[in-house]
Amino acid sequence: MIKVRLWDLPTRLFHWLFALAVLGAIITNLLEETVWHSYCGYTALVLVIFRIIWGLIGPHHARFSSFIPSVSELKNFIKDQKVSPLGHNPLGALSVVAMLLIVLVQATSGLFTDDEINFQGPLSKFISEDLVKLMNQIHEMNHFLVYGIVGLHLVAIFYYQKIKKNNLISPMIYGDKEIDDVEKNMPGVQILESKDDTKIRLLALVMLVVLAVLFKYFVLA
Ligand code: HEM
Ligand code: HEM
Repeated sequence: MIKVRLWDLPTRLFHWLFALAVLGAIITNLLEETVWHSYCGYTALVLVIFRIIWGLIGPHHARFSSFIPSVSELKNFIKDQKVSPLGHNPLGALSVVAMLLIVLVQATSGLFTDDEINFQGPLSKFISEDLVKLMNQIHEMNHFLVYGIVGLHLVAIFYYQKIKKNNLISPMIYGDKEIDDVEKNMPGVQILESKDDTKIRLLALVMLVVLAVLFKYFVLA
């Protein structure tokens, strides 16, 4: 049995903060706390932008290029489910991309909404009334996709945990995945670790702070 660093600390922190922000946006909307709802939405938006950049420059397993599957990889996975024990599996990878894009659309449209009662999104004043209406509609329709993809995500994680006895949650908390000899010696499997040293963590922190400051000055100004 060997331990391999799968998820670097920035990716793990991103995940749990993102989950909190999205669930927070859903709950505050149900409670009709629009101002808190918008804060959760802003947080989710900055985090998605962070994750997209991290997907381009971050450590190995966080990179889109390491997990977005080709059509043939996807077909092979659907046929016999054999897959490297590390990283997102091909279907999981598609759901990750879908989650990021759906939340990106939800939070971005939120910036342009106007509920015509007591809340105006910070960018709604820059666009025409018709466009604001369109953004309201997008925000209203797309929320079904947010509920759907989050629901699917939770069911999939539960299925892997309880039925397939594959613990995906522990690596998302502690970072490491335990690989046994059978998995290690599977044909075509390369055991690559994600870099997770102080330098890379600092880079992520600086990036997140810069994004938050830019967001504050350009969007919420
Ligand atoms: C308590 C609830 C949750 C649990 C236990 C959980 C668990 C996990 C786990 C184990 C993974 C890794 C999957 C893999 O190994 O392929 C993952 C990935 C992911 N989850 Fe969740 N999740 C939760 C809530 C959420 C919520 C609410 C969202 C919001 C949309 C979310 C978004 C994501 C994303 C975007 C990834 C990909 C992470 C990355 O590559 O950066 N999760 N989740
Ligand atoms: C993760 C991001 C977000 C999620 C998941 C989310 C989710 C939702 C949901 C489910 C609704 C109710 C839609 C309906 O029942 O018709 C809603 C409404 C609303 N959201 Fe968001 N939202 C997000 C981001 C934002 C942001 C960033 C803003 C503004 C800055 C915002 C402003 C609003 C407003 C004003 C409404 C009420 C619209 C109306 O009553 O006409 N949302 N949101």
